[in-house]
Amino acid sequence: MQSLTDICSLITSCKKCDLYFSRKKAVCGYGTDKPKLVIIGEAPGAKEDEVGKPFVGRSGNLLNKALNYAGILPKDVYITNSVRCRPKIGKSPKITEIKSCSDYLKKELMILKPLMLVPMGNSAIRSLNVILGTKLGRISELEGSVIFLDEKLIAPQYHPAAILRNPKKMEQFKDNFVKIAEILKNLDNGFSDSVLSNYKIRKINASSSY
Ligand code: URA
Repeated sequence: MQSLTDICSLITSCKKCDLYFSRKKAVCGYGTDKPKLVIIGEAPGAKEDEVGKPFVGRSGNLLNKALNYAGILPKDVYITNSVRCRPKIGKSPKITEIKSCSDYLKKELMILKPLMLVPMGNSAIRSLNVILGTKLGRISELEGSVIFLDEKLIAPQYHPAAILRNPKKMEQFKDNFVKIAEILKNLDNGFSDSVLSNYKIRKINASSSY
């Protein structure tokens, strides 16, 4: 089995799609190797492309504030992206780019085995659909919900960049992380029907649409 370091070497030398021509640095996942929570963003922005680390710019600041507010500690979190090289300026990654990159996320998830996944935004959801064979819909329908699939929870969130564009959604964004923190605390003794029903967590199969 490959290690996180092996996966990072594959990412930094990747030439699977054209984004490698324009990248300064490919960006690997970052955080503990025993996370309760894996947070999945879209793709590196300008700052991440310079520094080579995920969520070090304005979106990262907002994400850190929300995690602090909810009392979610760095020791429980791994942060990664659906695409590892900066897309064309101002563009979201294409589905072909998401597909080319999805194997890296799949490998990370196989190693990390988190209790919960937090895909932030539509690109992260698309990436999970590729990996898990799900047909999860758009973030505008899924935001704030929690889905139970194959012994893992999926709690989709808006991308922090969308919150920066529309600060009215800020309270909800932070409150969603508070709910995520509560669920994680309740899961310390494993999954139970009471946790699932207390939080109205919806069970689905991989092929279900939501
Ligand atoms: N936005 C993302 O989706 N990922 C990052 O790493 C930074 C900004």
